[in-house]
Amino acid sequence: MTFSLDHVIFFGRTWNECLSMYALDERDLDGRRILDCPGGPDALVADGLARGLDIQAVDPQYAFEPDVLEERGRTEIGDSMKKWQEDPAQAWDQKQADEFTQRKLEALDSFISAYRSHRDRFIEASLPELPFEDDAFDLVLSGHFLFLYASIDHGGLMSHGQLDLDFHVKAVRELVRVGREVRIFPTFATTGPARRQPYVEPLMEAIAADGFQVDLVPSNWVEGNFTQFNDLIRITRS
Ligand SMILES: C[S@@+](CC[C@H](N)C(=O)[O-])C[C@H]1O[C@@H](n2cnc3c(N)ncnc32)[C@H](O)[C@@H]1O
Repeated sequence: MTFSLDHVIFFGRTWNECLSMYALDERDLDGRRILDCPGGPDALVADGLARGLDIQAVDPQYAFEPDVLEERGRTEIGDSMKKWQEDPAQAWDQKQADEFTQRKLEALDSFISAYRSHRDRFIEASLPELPFEDDAFDLVLSGHFLFLYASIDHGGLMSHGQLDLDFHVKAVRELVRVGREVRIFPTFATTGPARRQPYVEPLMEAIAADGFQVDLVPSNWVEGNFTQFNDLIRITRS
């Protein structure tokens, strides 16, 4: 069965995975107002708060209670990994798949614990509109949503093309409005031949034409077979 999804899944990375994908060191975060958008069930806010950081996250799923999200998170990890492993074009060896699943569960546990105790740090909202003032944050991190959930024929995971180039440009303009620096990962195509996801280049051109400095920066992310085009987009004021 060919892998595709009909919705964006509630799936998150651990603290170490997040730092590696954004090519950040803990010291890069000190004293900065940080937004994780979308946060999903990743561990950035949980571990960031434990380290005394000023950090919050946005996700449409934060409309739901912790018990609902915990169950949804566990179900989505199990169902999506099963589907991924059933596609011969995508499947990983079992050890790799088990380790991946374990890290997702670890991130979910950290997230749920922080979501129960610091609910004010998790804001329900959806791109391309965020409920924040201009420049509300020094650093905005956006992982595993943009580019990844484009349609399968654009190297993404989705069976439909709702998150098209126009959506991506509007969403990134909004991230740039609220944050002085924005980092977006991944930029590779996740399905089909190894290549840059096709919205990356036109998106970078549009944001550069708005007057921002837009660069591809090597990511330290290591996962599965994704070793090529392993860069993040970094946007700063030029
Ligand atoms: C796979 S998670 C990414 C979590 C985390 N950033 C990471 O890298 O692990 C993607 C999230 O995007 C959220 N999402 C879906 N549509 C969205 C939208 N329009 N704006 C913001 N987030 C959205 C989903 O609810 C889901 O939690």
